[in-house]
Amino acid sequence: MNKPEFLSYQDLLGQEAVAVPAALKIDTRPEVANQIIATDVWTDPALFEREVDRLWTKVWQMACRETALSKPGDYYVYDIARYSVLLVRTDKGELKGFHNSCLHRGRALKSGKGSSRELRCPYHGFCWHLDGRFKEAYCDWEFDEADLAELSLPEVQVTTWGGWIMVNLDLEAPAFKDYSSVLSEHFTRWAPERRYVSLHVEKKIRCNWKIAMEAFIESYHAIQTHPQILSFTGGDNSQYDTFGEHLSRTITAQGIPNPGQADRFSVQESVEAMTGPGGFELALTLTGLTADEITSRQAIGAVRRAEFADFMDSDQLATVTDAETMDSILYLVFPNFAPWGGFQSQITYRYRPDGMNPDRCIMDIYLLDGYPSDQPRPPDAKTIRLDYDQKYAEAEELGMLGALFDQDANNLPEVQKGLMASKTRKVLTASYQELRIRHFHETLARYLQAED
Ligand code: FES
Ligand SMILES: [Fe+2]
Repeated sequence: MNKPEFLSYQDLLGQEAVAVPAALKIDTRPEVANQIIATDVWTDPALFEREVDRLWTKVWQMACRETALSKPGDYYVYDIARYSVLLVRTDKGELKGFHNSCLHRGRALKSGKGSSRELRCPYHGFCWHLDGRFKEAYCDWEFDEADLAELSLPEVQVTTWGGWIMVNLDLEAPAFKDYSSVLSEHFTRWAPERRYVSLHVEKKIRCNWKIAMEAFIESYHAIQTHPQILSFTGGDNSQYDTFGEHLSRTITAQGIPNPGQADRFSVQESVEAMTGPGGFELALTLTGLTADEITSRQAIGAVRRAEFADFMDSDQLATVTDAETMDSILYLVFPNFAPWGGFQSQITYRYRPDGMNPDRCIMDIYLLDGYPSDQPRPPDAKTIRLDYDQKYAEAEELGMLGALFDQDANNLPEVQKGLMASKTRKVLTASYQELRIRHFHETLARYLQAED
């Protein structure tokens, strides 16, 4: 079937009044073979076990915000499948990560987060310095002195990116900057490290972790699943990119109706769906343009820039494209960390298996917001935890996003159910709009097939 003609994302960037950053101008037009994906990858417990052994032990993962460990002695426990990593800020201010397992008889050394002068096991009291060197044990005559002195806590790799702490259980793994391709280059301008967490919702969902992740790497589902956003979301204009094996992104234009439904909506409707009532008039005042001249993206951009003046200076504001005020610029760092670019609230997602259960996952949604550079960083929001049967709408702080995420969350357990019930044992993916799904599964297959 022939694709109808409509503006591409790059065509929309051609309408910008200021220079478009290189990161947005790249259109990689990836070729990802249209392979069939077998349903086992989401349903087979043996493949889940293989992920535990060969994926989670090898990949870079976001553990928490750097602000969770601001002072010496601060610690934070990051759990993934059967693994647990104890992150610590040492006396020298260094970040370290240890396998969270006592070298005496194995108790987890810490849980949750807090502050501590040393790492003392709550069971028999074996104790380590913050940098992982062995400190002391009760009745030490019971043990070989030389062995005890060498009893340092095994480490994991730790680095930071964008204000996030990233960990890798594999001490031989390539550095995060090499693993993550152009990620840093693209985000220099959007500087997530200069933002604070204005909202963090962690929800349990009854599906394999990949089913949740996949619902956020394509915009194709919006027409059916999120009909209320069609007036301001050009899903069919989306651009899909891949950068090496560990990085991909979707950019979905906002502020315009979806091409297939465009005749249903006026410019004012598209604008006010994003700005709220009165936004269109406000945009005319801010830009000096008439209602006939202004485009919906110009109007929203003007209103958003006026809001951004709270945390950006005028020189910087003058360089901000309309795209960066509103579009969904959503990256995925393989396998499960998804930060948004741009200057609006930067939504960031993470998806983890819930312990060792292949059919259950935990999805994190963070919102990162800016604050004036001459003021102290606001404290990060406390985590809101939602259980399997709770709705996103119960987290009132999500506002309109709550209903949107509930639409996604309603699909996910049903996708799990349908994949398990599948007679054909395989799925189809759209050639362009779902290419990131295939890109992800190609990389996953490489990890699962790798020899030890
Ligand atoms: S298990 Fe940790 S001190 Fe015994
Ligand atoms: Fe969605």
